Amino acid sequence: MRRMTRKVIIDCDPGIDDAVALCLALFDPQLEVVAITATEGNVSADQSTRNVQALVEQFDPPRYPRIGTASPLESAPALNTRQFHGDDGLGNAGLQCSRLHHQHPSDKLICDEVRAAPEQVTILCFGPLTNLARAFRRDPAIVALVGRVVIMGGSVQAGGNITAAAEFNMYFDPLSARQVIRSGVTKTLLPLDLIQQMGVNLSFLEELPSEHSRAGRVLRRILPFMFRAYHQQLGQESIVLHDVLAYLAVVHPELFQNVEMCVDIETRGELTTGATVFDRRPRAPNRPNSEVGIEIDAAAALDCLIRGLQRAGQCTS
Ligand code: RIB
Ligand code: CA
Repeated sequence: MRRMTRKVIIDCDPGIDDAVALCLALFDPQLEVVAITATEGNVSADQSTRNVQALVEQFDPPRYPRIGTASPLESAPALNTRQFHGDDGLGNAGLQCSRLHHQHPSDKLICDEVRAAPEQVTILCFGPLTNLARAFRRDPAIVALVGRVVIMGGSVQAGGNITAAAEFNMYFDPLSARQVIRSGVTKTLLPLDLIQQMGVNLSFLEELPSEHSRAGRVLRRILPFMFRAYHQQLGQESIVLHDVLAYLAVVHPELFQNVEMCVDIETRGELTTGATVFDRRPRAPNRPNSEVGIEIDAAAALDCLIRGLQRAGQCTS
């Protein structure tokens, strides 16, 4: 019996971990990636759009998604993640894309695809929530038409990664993050607490699809940069592929333990801007507004990651 595919929109800021998660999703027969919408974050808006285009062209998946173009965020902070992703966001691998196809603004594309399939689309957020917030402002009615939003972001008790208090995706655009968190959309948050249980070491490079595959060629060009960067910058021999967790939460929810929590985003603190604040008081005044991943079967998740990449590697050319 043909398994029903799940429609997803992937909003991302590639980003090496974004690229790995995109590869998994584009070659996953359970998913119909109807659109990939670029957002500023790890790289500039233009670079993010070029990276999405280049990755789709290089992966050359069985089904091509529509592509949304990112536009700059006025309030983008100075802090960035180039040291872990490279100046071009993809390990300085120099992936080229052809001329940019017809330009669809990311937020408009999100609205169009959600309206085309009411309550059927899962929006996977691998980057700052700028596009989603813009989409909700452009067409407020879609908040009720989105199936679910799955967000890689925030931190319950693991502290920050871009600052002491904040995880990067929330930090980069805290006002948009707060707007989405308060919007009432059904959402799942995968915080840093989970991701830190999922480090992959150098042996992961040997598990990648072969050079003869499109996926293998791309991943083998971009991933070594991140291993070198984690070693040089953090003294760590393993890396974390944050966005892969959000993909796994959609296709393998059985790997996760989630709890309903009330969360909000700090938007003004000198030291705490972008921090996710979870209200865990008994009888907290506000109702829970997010399902939050608190535990993961890390060994099984790593196995799903490897198997997903091997599946992607079967498409050779
Ligand atoms: O904090 C990690 C997140 O920030 C990941 O999505 C990574 O790609 C960067 O966007
Ligand atoms: Ca990302």
